[in-house]
Amino acid sequence: EKGTYPHYMLKEIDEQPLVMRKIIQAYQNDAGELSIDEGVLNAVNAADRIYIVACGTSYHAGLVGKEFLEKTAKIPTEVHVASEFVYNTPLLSDKPLFIFISQSGETADSRAVLVRVKELGHPTLTLTNVAGSTLSREASHTLLLHAGPEIAVASTKAYTAQIAVLSILAEVAGKAKGFEMSFDLIQELGIVATAMEALTDDKEAFEQIARDFLSVTRNAFFIGRSMDYHVVQEAALKLKEISYIQAEGFAGGELKHGTIALIEDGTPVFAVTTQENVNLSIRGNVKEVAARGAHTCTISMKGMEEEGDSYVIPYVHELLSPLVSVVPTQLIAYYAALHRDCDVDKPRNLAKSVTVE
Ligand code: M6R
Repeated sequence: EKGTYPHYMLKEIDEQPLVMRKIIQAYQNDAGELSIDEGVLNAVNAADRIYIVACGTSYHAGLVGKEFLEKTAKIPTEVHVASEFVYNTPLLSDKPLFIFISQSGETADSRAVLVRVKELGHPTLTLTNVAGSTLSREASHTLLLHAGPEIAVASTKAYTAQIAVLSILAEVAGKAKGFEMSFDLIQELGIVATAMEALTDDKEAFEQIARDFLSVTRNAFFIGRSMDYHVVQEAALKLKEISYIQAEGFAGGELKHGTIALIEDGTPVFAVTTQENVNLSIRGNVKEVAARGAHTCTISMKGMEEEGDSYVIPYVHELLSPLVSVVPTQLIAYYAALHRDCDVDKPRNLAKSVTVE
């Protein structure tokens, strides 16, 4: 039930801090440490390479998950769009593990890959929000997202839940391998939840940004580098899907290789910057587009902000920043759709779960 909320999407955006806390609880053992089912852990640590397979928003969560699995658990990881993988299967390693990320657990494109890799005899793990879903039943292992039912077609809390569960999986796998962790993940995810709350409490700011930047435009760009590049791809998908504004998420440095030709007077360009090592370079990209007339909106993380930034999000650990930096972009997409009289929860041409290939 959406209760007093005008739309499920807004309710689900607001639920994200609570979902973070639920996930921390669900993946904690009696001793208060993060823990993962032993079968899953063994499967992860037996793999010489992980193949993440997913679609849409879940694919974007996979891009962030790869960073955790490589940086924290030191397992080489590839991320693939399911519909491509089926017809153009990459060369596989000797001991692959397949991770399927799917909110619904019913996505046909992902299932087609699952069926195929099972035939080849490879181990499989599904990350899903729906216990007993097809992808969960058919995979060797399941990890649940604990996000509660997601009703809006536009996925929001499932994305952040997927990222949080992947961070826990990577942390527990890394620890089991004897790697020293440089931060306390339970504590950092708690900080994330609090930061998310500060953002969902500040909706007027995002409604105003949507009004200023997206009321009349036909297109928009989102730029970022490194972790922020993953987030801007998700930001663009969300905006397209519910507001019908043509949007693209781009790696900041790649713009000058062609796409910058599209920048005109007034073209909205959103930049996300949360990573110290690329802060200066993305700001350089913002200047490049501004010099060509772009209407730029910079969303930066505390500690990296500069005068003139449109919004500063609270500081969280750099690796976990996508969990927080995505929230303004969800709210901006929501308000843009609202201002343009779009059917936020049920955008045209789309279904909540895509059960055809
Ligand atoms: O249920 P799934 O996570 O497998 O769904 C995958 C995509 O269809 C889904 O994320 C889609 O991109 C959303 N509508 C995005 O908001």
